[in-house]
Amino acid sequence: LIVTLDTLLNDEQLTAICDALMTAEFSDGQRTAGWHARLVKQNQQLDRSSAMAEDLRQQVLSALQANALFEAAAYPDTIHSLLFSRYQPGMEYGRHVDNAFMGGNASSGKANRRFRADVSFTLFLTEPDSYEGGELVIEGACDDQRYKLSAGSLILYPSSTLHRVEKVTAGVRLVCIGWVQSLVRDPAQREVLFDLDTARRSLFAREGKTIEFDLLSKTYANLLRQWSE
Ligand code: NI
Repeated sequence: LIVTLDTLLNDEQLTAICDALMTAEFSDGQRTAGWHARLVKQNQQLDRSSAMAEDLRQQVLSALQANALFEAAAYPDTIHSLLFSRYQPGMEYGRHVDNAFMGGNASSGKANRRFRADVSFTLFLTEPDSYEGGELVIEGACDDQRYKLSAGSLILYPSSTLHRVEKVTAGVRLVCIGWVQSLVRDPAQREVLFDLDTARRSLFAREGKTIEFDLLSKTYANLLRQWSE
């Protein structure tokens, strides 16, 4: 299930984040890549430990937590590992799969625990016509899907996919990326729940609280009970 959220951020939020990132210092993105992703990762990222990064992460987190479509598509247990990335001309991130676990380490206590990556997301921060290249490409069994969304829009997709970011050939691509440890681990189950939820809401909007709506709601709630952890 791949879902795009148009205008997760409004113009005001977007401007505040981009203004802050304009003056920020970025460092080599290799530091947060796994040993094989490192071979294909060429971008820059905002130092995670800076006060500015913490502030910007909170702004994005608040927007995500307030978004009903994000909730319905991702079933977040924890939204984690938010990172601001910058691609300048010549930079790209070749084909890779995201790590299953992020943060912490094997012997860490709860304060520094590891989170599973079930859902990946990219929040686009620069307008698509301000840079060339830089499409997010998600590989499918038959074909590739290419995404270059407007600034303030977000795409979420299963972390289990192979994906890449095409080389930026002009301009600057700024994004915020992050991951969700989902209450529903299986992407196919998340899709069933998302479809059922969408269908029952649409039925409710058209016909109100009918017996069909109640049965769909019952099924939805009971599947969620079975499939969540
Ligand atoms: Ni990735």
